Amino acid sequence: MRKIRIFDTTLRDGEQSPGASMNVEEKVQVARQLANLRVDIIEAGFAISSPGDFEAIQRIGGEVEGPVVCSLARAKEEDIKRAWEALKAAPRRRIHTFHSTSDIHLQYQFKVSREEALRRSVAMVELARGLVEDVEFSPMDATRTEVPYLLEVIEAVVKAGASTVNIPDTVGYTTPSEFGELIRAIKTRIGDSAVISVHCHNDLGLAVANSLAAIANGAGQVECTVNGIGERAGNCSMEEVVMALRTRKDFFNASTDINTKEIVRTSRLVSKITGINVQPNKAIVGANAFAHESGIHQDGLLKEKTTYEIIRPEDIGLKSTQLVMGKHSGRHAFKARLKELGFSLSQEEMENAFERFKRLADQKKDIFDEDLETLVSESKARAPEYYSLIDLSMTSGVNQKPTAMVKMKVGDRIFDRMEHGDGPVDATYKAIVAIVEAKSTLRRFEVKSITGGTDALGEVTVTLEEDGVVVRGNGADTDIIVAAAKAYIDALNKLAVRKR
Ligand code: KIV
Ligand code: ZN
Repeated sequence: MRKIRIFDTTLRDGEQSPGASMNVEEKVQVARQLANLRVDIIEAGFAISSPGDFEAIQRIGGEVEGPVVCSLARAKEEDIKRAWEALKAAPRRRIHTFHSTSDIHLQYQFKVSREEALRRSVAMVELARGLVEDVEFSPMDATRTEVPYLLEVIEAVVKAGASTVNIPDTVGYTTPSEFGELIRAIKTRIGDSAVISVHCHNDLGLAVANSLAAIANGAGQVECTVNGIGERAGNCSMEEVVMALRTRKDFFNASTDINTKEIVRTSRLVSKITGINVQPNKAIVGANAFAHESGIHQDGLLKEKTTYEIIRPEDIGLKSTQLVMGKHSGRHAFKARLKELGFSLSQEEMENAFERFKRLADQKKDIFDEDLETLVSESKARAPEYYSLIDLSMTSGVNQKPTAMVKMKVGDRIFDRMEHGDGPVDATYKAIVAIVEAKSTLRRFEVKSITGGTDALGEVTVTLEEDGVVVRGNGADTDIIVAAAKAYIDALNKLAVRKR
């Protein structure tokens, strides 16, 4: 079996999804889970693009064990030096540098000749090789580049020291058979002198199919993102490509090192942190991916699972919702369960989570794994609290204008305010805005229930924008209005940090 490396770019290309930006703490949290998932390489960011990206790369490189940690860099000296600065402390590190090669990009965007693009690419790979052992080069817009020139660039950068050449379908333009042929031509040209990687975008819905065609024709690395998030229509979905290889190993004769039992947990974490919900019919991780509606299918399944199921739900970590804890569970049981769920918390985070768990257990009789995951990831991702909610009471009814009374702490001072609104959330938000004198605009408001039942934990995600800064806040509570207030206040705290 050929081993296919999984290069995860959720924290870089995935973060380029509109509205998906993550703060440093959130990126470290996702990176830890990617390590549990056993991806081979984590592209942790684009070091020169922002101080936040730089810090995230630095922290992931220093704190997350296992995968190679990588920074993106344009084929420019200052980018490569910045990537190196961010990666210095990482025991396993890679610089990924890129330059466009298609005439469309060279003529209209960069205004450089093919010769100059080739010269810069080679020079920057050499510079990166002087700093790190592991260098990857991408000829951007490769699938719209004239093939003989593309091959010339690839051969030259491999000679200059690139150990991986990544072939991006930057605009999601290629098709499986065409891309397969291209990868075969590259393989014929460079043999085993470098790993061939592929990076497919999903503009025509073909990212996974194109990546699989590339693997069948000699690619040894796939660049992908959790839930397929990414620029425009997204990137190749990690869970789909991994499960296709696993399910059809008879066809591909290739495998990955991914611990597939961590797929669902990773998908949920990324969805929670980015605020991008997974569509219900999404392959592998969609809510309906294992739901059989038709009577004929249900009949077959009851007789023999394999009649209609090609993947066992437990292989991707999907458990039938289990009752795990309740009001009487103690600190030890709580700690042990969190450990089993893969969380590693500091003493302070553990105490904080336990306190929140006890409060939840007073409101909700049965607490499931999903509730614990929400509770813990919510408290881990929380920004330092300049604003906090002390109390909230509401009245509303069929013939009554909704009214909210909000009491909040702002720094060291306490304020309260009553407001009316079109609905309970509207009244609550009006009161919060009046207290903090917020100038931000509400861009998105989403509600979801974590488990079934009328006492389910409701989770609210709020996206706020102020002066071009976009932040997301999360809040969870059995009372959906309280969850909405917490989410809004969390976003305000994030805005305050970002503005500072
Ligand atoms: O899509 C693309 O071309 C990229 C490169 C930077 C690899 O993301
Ligand atoms: Zn991309």
